[in-house]
Amino acid sequence: ASSRRFFVGGNWKMNGDNASIAEIVKFLNEGVNDSTSTEVVVAPPALYLKQVVTDVNKNIAVSAQNCYKATKGAFTGEISPEMIKDVGGKWVILGHSERRHKFGEKDELIGEKVGHALSAGIGVIACVGELLSERENGTTSEVVYRQTKAIAGNVSDWNRVVIAYEPVWAIGTGKTATPDQAQEVHDLIRKWLNDNVSSDVANSIRIIYGGSVNAKNCRELATKPDVDGFLVGGASLKPEFIEIINAKS
Ligand code: G3P
Repeated sequence: ASSRRFFVGGNWKMNGDNASIAEIVKFLNEGVNDSTSTEVVVAPPALYLKQVVTDVNKNIAVSAQNCYKATKGAFTGEISPEMIKDVGGKWVILGHSERRHKFGEKDELIGEKVGHALSAGIGVIACVGELLSERENGTTSEVVYRQTKAIAGNVSDWNRVVIAYEPVWAIGTGKTATPDQAQEVHDLIRKWLNDNVSSDVANSIRIIYGGSVNAKNCRELATKPDVDGFLVGGASLKPEFIEIINAKS
């Protein structure tokens, strides 16, 4: 894991307003600087993306939480990766479980979005993860392989892809996967990439964990060889996010 740069993303989801975002930007700018070895990315709601790009320091990149699979056109309510790039965003989160399960996004659409975002020149944080029922009936690996395959089939440049493993039962529940549970699935994903893409990609890609990561549990999770960082929801809105960024240092 040592050759892979630790990556920590903050997914703010549908949270924040002008005042609270100014406070988040303040603790980010105080806590992240030139000596921070972790790659840090924050994903505000799209309406605030441009402001955050302007206000955070250059050691922090900004991501969108979603985008559509086209450049422009009659797609009311959507934003394109070209627009994200135009306002200074460098990444987009795609396939988040909330997009999959609350908004009905399927593997095929997520794959198309991944392909288009990469062709538009931004990076992709691609999310996979099983439901509690899927874990309980023993289909975790099957689900995660199916989701990874749909993403992989559309990737033109693996250097700009990070995979986030987010078990749905651990998201926003305060119920974190144990370090061993996270390691087990990260290892499965890396093996799948080794067998189906290439050993180079499998060795270099960052596979990050998401699901109730906080300042208390991040250090132990970060000791696992295949945990290359985190995608943080709730705790990314609070100053403890800086401790998570520094989990490995
Ligand atoms: O994308 C991050 C996420 O889904 C985890 O959310 O609030 O459990 O850290 P949370």
